[in-house]
Amino acid sequence: MTKYIDTKITDKETEHSLPVLDGTMGPSAVDIQTLYTNEDMLAFDPGFRSTASCKSAITYVDGDEGVLLYRGYPIEELAEKSTFEEVAYLLMYGELPSETEYAQFTDTLGDLSLLHDQVLSFYRGFRRDAHPMAIMVGVVGALSAFYHDRMDMSDPEQRELAAYRLVGKMPMIAAASHTYHIGRPIRYPRKVLGYAENFVQMMFGKPHVEYEIDPILVRALDRILILHADHEQNASTSTVRLTASSGANPFACMAAGIASLWGPAHGGANEAVLDMLTDIGRVENIPDAVARAKDKKDPFRLMGFGHRVYKNFDPRATVIQQSAKEVLNHLGLDDPLLEIAMRLEEIALEDEYFIERKLYPNVDFYSGIVLRAMGVPTNMFTAIFALARTVGWVSHWLELTAEPHGIDRPRQLYVGPTLRHYPK
Ligand code: CMC
Repeated sequence: MTKYIDTKITDKETEHSLPVLDGTMGPSAVDIQTLYTNEDMLAFDPGFRSTASCKSAITYVDGDEGVLLYRGYPIEELAEKSTFEEVAYLLMYGELPSETEYAQFTDTLGDLSLLHDQVLSFYRGFRRDAHPMAIMVGVVGALSAFYHDRMDMSDPEQRELAAYRLVGKMPMIAAASHTYHIGRPIRYPRKVLGYAENFVQMMFGKPHVEYEIDPILVRALDRILILHADHEQNASTSTVRLTASSGANPFACMAAGIASLWGPAHGGANEAVLDMLTDIGRVENIPDAVARAKDKKDPFRLMGFGHRVYKNFDPRATVIQQSAKEVLNHLGLDDPLLEIAMRLEEIALEDEYFIERKLYPNVDFYSGIVLRAMGVPTNMFTAIFALARTVGWVSHWLELTAEPHGIDRPRQLYVGPTLRHYPK
């Protein structure tokens, strides 16, 4: 039965019913699409704290309970039992693949994993000290100039091909952003290797020695990729959807998503966490950092703490905390930054300021520690987040383009000058 919510706008003495839409889980949504037409009124929600921008069947997040489901499957189960390729298939197609589907999927991704040779010349146009995310925004955007041959987005097959190209090529794009930066030759993917294996061999491999893949580290990276693969309508995914709503080229849409992800309030936080832990430097300095984070006159925030949606705990943080311990044990590393991180977490979680505001460590708090232990330089952390999130962006892009609802065009509450005339 359709429910309605009554709106009464008193100065106009009008009353109008708005339908309430129910999802399969989570809060219902008031459908305000007719508000402007019927009441000449807009809804005001800067930051989209109470706005569902679309319907989506991909990912479910319950921030109060700390729940994250990909197509209904809990993130903890996928992180433990699945692989990134399988999760990618699940997100893109809605179901776990059969053995044959899985084989075909990974085979096609492998076939499309190489970059056009001409794309490599774009890398050489960047300064060597360019940030890998800056290179990725540029290179992924540049791919739109390479694949305009089959770009009829009303054709599902062409959409699928664009999706495979994006997911398939991203490991080489990300790894090459690093090797170019450090002056090492760009390496090619090998079809016999898995997604995470390929990324590590392209990122760390050297031309003159055989690269030995460490399965424990590959598994840890695979888990990081799974945990970061999607997170419903976050800033970068919403950016991809908004860009795609105009019918823009899919590679350009993904470049927009990468740009949005780069910010320190979003994907850039994992890099910012490491910078912050390094600045704190010693366990004794933690109380000062916590005091600064609480001081409203100081812009400093504890990076890796807080989340717009999770107000209990971030389930991804629980999984990755375990991974951090496993990787450090395996490598026999005693990272002083991990000690600072653990202590900071304890102190912050006991502090009234953080308790009241429900600020818990998020996924980025620990992913930085794992990546650092694996030898990944700090400036590649967000690039690895982008590598993983490409699957989420692509899944949302496929969902949107399969059922386009026209261009996204938010309105505004105008607070500028009223009409005035140009002085003579
Ligand atoms: N350190 C100190 N105070 C904080 C922090 C923090 N990390 N995060 C929020 N607060 C305070 C904030 O000052 C405000 O206090 P008051 O009510 O007294 O004004 C209150 O908590 C609510 O903050 P908000 O900015 O309204 O919360 P938000 O939902 O808009 O922000 C956030 C979410 C993630 C941007 C924010 O918590 C933050 O900046 N965290 C640090 C950056 C970070 O770790 N980002 C990664 C997010 S997870 C990865 C991803 O999904 O992209």
